Amino acid sequence: MIPFNQLAILTPYADLFLGTSEKLVTSFSEVPLFAGKKLSGSLKATNPYPDQCCFVMQGHVENRRIWYLYRFAANCCRRVFFAWFARKPLNFVSEASKVSDKRFRLPETERIPMNNAQKPIGVFDSGVGGLTVVRALMQRLPHENIVYFGDTARVPYGVKSRNTIECFSEQIVRFLLEQNVKALVIACNTIAAVAGQKVRRLAGDVPVLDVIAAGAKAAANTTQNGVIGVIGTSTTVGSNAYARAIAAIAPQHRVVSQACSLLVPLVEEGWLQHEVTRLTVREYLQPILAENIDTLVLGCTHYPLLKPLLAEEAQGVTLVDSAITTAEEVAAVLAERHLLHPATDTPDYRFFVSDIPLRFRAIGERFLNRPMEQLEMISLG
Ligand code: DGL
Repeated sequence: MIPFNQLAILTPYADLFLGTSEKLVTSFSEVPLFAGKKLSGSLKATNPYPDQCCFVMQGHVENRRIWYLYRFAANCCRRVFFAWFARKPLNFVSEASKVSDKRFRLPETERIPMNNAQKPIGVFDSGVGGLTVVRALMQRLPHENIVYFGDTARVPYGVKSRNTIECFSEQIVRFLLEQNVKALVIACNTIAAVAGQKVRRLAGDVPVLDVIAAGAKAAANTTQNGVIGVIGTSTTVGSNAYARAIAAIAPQHRVVSQACSLLVPLVEEGWLQHEVTRLTVREYLQPILAENIDTLVLGCTHYPLLKPLLAEEAQGVTLVDSAITTAEEVAAVLAERHLLHPATDTPDYRFFVSDIPLRFRAIGERFLNRPMEQLEMISLG
């Protein structure tokens, strides 16, 4: 349930009925969500009411964004209504002549049935790395709505304690569940390694998939000689999570791991083909290549960005990209539960971060290879 001080509703026509308190939120969580630029393009196609429009925004509301919506609505509609459920109304609302803070009731008969398949997939990581999983999901499941959270204020997780990672993960999961997600994807090996169980407990009936389970399965099926290398953050490697996951599937395989703490900062810096990165990778790979591995798991969601370089430095070794294998697993689980989105709507992608959205945008657009239209900063905890 969305706290009311985080919900704003804008109704361009007077006769849209809004309920109050919990009823309202329940009703409107079923209406397609719009924000920022996407609004004008999507308005006609997805308006759930034939003769009226409503806009719902979830998440922390910024003055700038509300103002944008107001101006848009005032330009194209006869009347503009804002229904506020914020404890403290924003200043411009009281000044704008066309704005009302009236609240209306949505009759029972007008409720739109909840369609679980249309709900978004929630994906999260300590920062930008999980976007490699988002990119794989966009390619594998192009009609799915996605809501992403990257904890950019507190990255890296890879050097933090289990307790801290569990605590941060809980906050993120609660936030994503409030976004009404139909599945959760732990797009961070570090979180999956030490807080996977906690996330599953919190998620209840919502299916949880993670990069380690998917990567371990793919590696076990890929190796020919039974020797698998795993590279990841110190926490992931220290947790032994890959070795345990692979042993559960194929106990005959041998796993050799290497923590590569310097790679995350190098990727975040964008040094994907830099000589410094090459030498660093060479140094890290040397001991595990000496073990005669034929398969190498990229056990950190940042590392797929280094794939070309890793392939050059680990010639003859098959790389397992857990982003791709995770997207495959998500597709399988959604299909099994009849939760695949029907292929009609343009997908909605929303990105939330806990710090500096501008830096995240620059790196994220490189990760995704496309512009990020809906990006918002929120604070957790
Ligand atoms: N992307 C995270 C992972 O997959 C690593 C980044 C971090 O250390 O927070 O483990």
